[in-house]
Amino acid sequence: MGDACWYVTTPIYYPSADLHIGHAYTTVAADALSRYHRLKGQDVLFVTGTDEHGQKIERSAADEGVAPPAFVDRVVARIRDELWPALGVSHDRFIRTTDEDHVAVVQAIFQRLRDQGDIYFGTYEGWYCLPDESFWPDSRVHGGACPECGRPVERVQQPSYFFRLSRYQDRLRQHLLAHPDFVQPPTRLNEMINFIEQGLEDLSVSRAGVGWGVPVPGDPEHTIYVWFDALINYLTAAGYLSDSDRFQAAWPPDVQLMGKEIVRFHAVTWPIMLMALDLPLPRRVFGHGWLLIGETKIGKSLGHVIDPIQLVAKYGVDPVRYFLLREVPFGADGTYTEEALVRRTNVDLANDLGNLLHRTIAMVRRFNDGFVPPFRPGIEEPVLELVAADVRREVEDSLEAVELNRAVEAVGRLVRAANKFIEERQPWALFREPGARERLDNVLYSVLESLRVASVLLSPLLLDTPGRIRRQLGIADGVTRWEEAAWGKLPVGHHLDEGTPLFPRLEAAAEEISAAAPAPAAVSEAPTVSLDEFQRLDLRVARVEAAERVAGTDRLLKLTLSLGDSTRTVVSGIAQHYHAEALVGRLVVVVANLASVTLRGIVSEGMVLAASEGGQLALVGPLDAVPLGARVQ
Ligand code: MSP
Repeated sequence: MGDACWYVTTPIYYPSADLHIGHAYTTVAADALSRYHRLKGQDVLFVTGTDEHGQKIERSAADEGVAPPAFVDRVVARIRDELWPALGVSHDRFIRTTDEDHVAVVQAIFQRLRDQGDIYFGTYEGWYCLPDESFWPDSRVHGGACPECGRPVERVQQPSYFFRLSRYQDRLRQHLLAHPDFVQPPTRLNEMINFIEQGLEDLSVSRAGVGWGVPVPGDPEHTIYVWFDALINYLTAAGYLSDSDRFQAAWPPDVQLMGKEIVRFHAVTWPIMLMALDLPLPRRVFGHGWLLIGETKIGKSLGHVIDPIQLVAKYGVDPVRYFLLREVPFGADGTYTEEALVRRTNVDLANDLGNLLHRTIAMVRRFNDGFVPPFRPGIEEPVLELVAADVRREVEDSLEAVELNRAVEAVGRLVRAANKFIEERQPWALFREPGARERLDNVLYSVLESLRVASVLLSPLLLDTPGRIRRQLGIADGVTRWEEAAWGKLPVGHHLDEGTPLFPRLEAAAEEISAAAPAPAAVSEAPTVSLDEFQRLDLRVARVEAAERVAGTDRLLKLTLSLGDSTRTVVSGIAQHYHAEALVGRLVVVVANLASVTLRGIVSEGMVLAASEGGQLALVGPLDAVPLGARVQ
């Protein structure tokens, strides 16, 4: 089973709010692995999706006064149709737990496990962590806090179906000991073995009071526990019970990626579900670390929700992918800062890679009239050829081992070696030296060829950059096979046009992307703007038609503004200065052509002007009557 198709999964994400850079981290990693295996000529099944049922989503929908199906449809559309396309995520199936085929598989599995006595009926009494959707027994909860995330837990007492984890405890322990690669990195394996050795209690797999879920077959008063439902997505997406050819080819997953906080579900509950179904277990469950802001996991509080779509709009997709794959050793925690993203782009991409390409093409144009020179083996030691072969092997090993940062780093080694080679061989001196033509040709060819090899090695990792390098090298921009990374494939004799910089040097971000309301700007020596520049701002008079506090925040108000013949929604960080009700009917000035941003799941289509100083803040509006929508200029 499973040899014909390489199968990788990400967790399916809760569409309780828009996803952030932390979710993008896992998904871009899975994407890079998928692209690599496709280039190796393998069939690939790359699955990601959304985990849509359960109490957490039910509550988020209720908070917005929307029915769960409409609520999830809206958030899911943004994830599937905007976020993943913006990051170039090449999934083969986007699975939603509300998909009909999935619901059917969940119910069939529940029924089978009940029929074979692995699921039984009883009463649950214990704790529930809503944000994590996880049950905790009394023995693990101290002071009312979730042992995993520290947030408050709720008391639950209800009739419930239970899954007999205890029956499989020893078999699972044996499996982990016999397959030390099953859970990676190794520290997580040890955590899991310890966890199992403390003894597994049977798991409650239904909720009586939660209506938004898959009904228990034959007992619709109960819905199936959201984690039990969610883990099954990996089976549904592989064609379990629906497409036996696909399932034969894909099962079991080769790599399942996730953040470390949910390894427990994937290394304990999930394999036991598969054992009960007599199915092979995944080959590898990889729990990577967290992206942090300061000391805090991104996603835990307002101001930490970095929107990847905005980052891509600001910097382009490849700097964002590069940063995500390169910055943090996969497995460890690491810090996100926009400044680090800018630094990575400037140092690695603009300086090392971009300059190498630019200066090399310039030298070929100066020293060989722009024609790719021939290469004559045997004249000199094949320095870059050896580095390229070594780097290629390291990229392959790293990607097989899911060490993505090491793969990216290895390509950097080739780029730096090529830069160093130029410094050492000094093509400008060879050009003037009588009888050095062949050596000069070899140097130029070797550097061009290193760039071509780098473009192949980068092609699973970045989106447009490999093609842009290749166009400048005068070769087809698409890489179709990994074997193209072999040395010596650059054709000779064609003419190279003048190069264009690959990456403009970025300035450190003046305004960082985050969901926190911008701090009021201090009065400064502002640079002069022309009237034209000022008039690019479309400032309009608007009336506040409705205002409400954005749930879960202290600072944000959601305003509905009338501009006369149109209305728009604006999220404004003024809640500490104005009561929502007091704003209704007031006139304000709105920047009407500001790029929209999503804050707390709400699309904000503009910004209201306010004056602020020393902690005081006042909205700005017209002093006398004017029609709504009047232009401010
Ligand atoms: N729905 C469950 C998963 C079910 S899988 C059968 C869930 N969803 S989630 O929306 O909370 O997503 C959690 C996952 O998002 C993490 O496991 C990780 O892959 C990713 N991340 C979310 N925040 C992250 C960071 N700050 N850093 C790195 N990854 C993060 O749990």
